[in-house]
Amino acid sequence: MRQPYIAGNWKMNLDRRSARELASGIREHLGARDDVQVGLFPPFVYLDEVVRAVSGSPVLVGGQNCCDEDEGAFTGEISTGMLADVGAQVALVGHSERRHVYGESDELVNRKVHAALARGLDVILCIGETIEQREAGETEATNARQLTAGIQGVAPGDLGRLTIAYEPVWAIGTGLTASPAQAGAVHAYVRGVFAGLTTDAAAEGIRILYGGSVKPDNVRELMAVPDIDGALVGGASLELETFIPIVDFGN
Ligand code: 13P
Repeated sequence: MRQPYIAGNWKMNLDRRSARELASGIREHLGARDDVQVGLFPPFVYLDEVVRAVSGSPVLVGGQNCCDEDEGAFTGEISTGMLADVGAQVALVGHSERRHVYGESDELVNRKVHAALARGLDVILCIGETIEQREAGETEATNARQLTAGIQGVAPGDLGRLTIAYEPVWAIGTGLTASPAQAGAVHAYVRGVFAGLTTDAAAEGIRILYGGSVKPDNVRELMAVPDIDGALVGGASLELETFIPIVDFGN
């Protein structure tokens, strides 16, 4: 049984105070509940604040990105060692905004996956097709390629530290959610590809989150799909009023 995972990707939003208040509110709401795993992905500069706000609780905190290099002359970059040093436990890697706005390649994404795992961070690897790829019938090929390249060379013993987030690019920030059937078809396909790359047991255990305009009013139907194990939430993760009902989808 895979524990549901609801992750909030705050992107480049909030400020120090609102980040702290949001994290504290989530922590208070959750208490010691273990029916759902919650992860928060604040901007780098608020990681420290958010780590302190949820310290001692089951809430995970992660970076929205990381550098593939360990240290050195990489102006503006943040290493996985720095993330671990401030108490982050997870790195989000290969988000579509990194791939499509900042031009990250599959190869770079793979190096980031390795950098994060090497520093003891868990990884959420994001994959997803653009609308052009979907309309050209390339949805499966795109997701298979991004997944295959993304986990290339990951040791079998580290597979349990991976989570996959399927985020169709056309559904991000657009209000156009993939239907449960559309998302479910890709999730089942991705799990099959993962099984082929690893083992059936690893594929049975890995969590595949859906991301793209997840809201309180659509989370239940998405989470009812067998291969959807959680949600990576953008806009609706920025306020307690919308994030809490998503976290509480099962209640
Ligand atoms: P929205 O929920 O705002 O569509 O963002 C999804 C996303 O990109 C999460 O990483």
